[in-house]
Amino acid sequence: MGHRLAWSGAMLLGCVLMGMGCGSTDNTAQNSVKKAPPSDGQIQRAYTMKCSLCHGTDGRLMASKAPDLSLSEMSLEERVALITYGKGTMPPQKGILDDATIRGIAKYIEQFRD
Ligand code: HEC
Repeated sequence: MGHRLAWSGAMLLGCVLMGMGCGSTDNTAQNSVKKAPPSDGQIQRAYTMKCSLCHGTDGRLMASKAPDLSLSEMSLEERVALITYGKGTMPPQKGILDDATIRGIAKYIEQFRD
């Protein structure tokens, strides 16, 4: 009977060793923690999808009572807050776009200014 016990002990040891082998999943863990900042292309796409409907691709469409973004004098921080929380008929992006993308768009629309 002692025979069998030793065998199951070896199995147990094997599992522990294998478990340690699987412990080397650090790579994926790092990837999920450190998120790459949005690229210019991603920011432009997000603007096209979420904003151009009312503001147009050049900021001057002025649909749904949207103001002409080329005339906007808002500061970067004001724009970040406005895009995050929305105003009037402008929908909030909080929880839809991440903070880095919102900030990226807030900078992106500066190019519409004359
Ligand atoms: C449904 C239409 C609509 C969409 C979509 C929309 N906006 Fe607006 N936007 C508005 C309206 C309406 C206002 C004016 C809000 C107010 O002052 O009451 C506004 C105001 C703004 C202003 C302030 C301009 C100023 O100086 O007064 C900025 C900047 C802006 N929008 C950027 C964006 C961005 C960036 C997006 C995409 C994330 C976006 N908007 C999506 C309708 C929209």
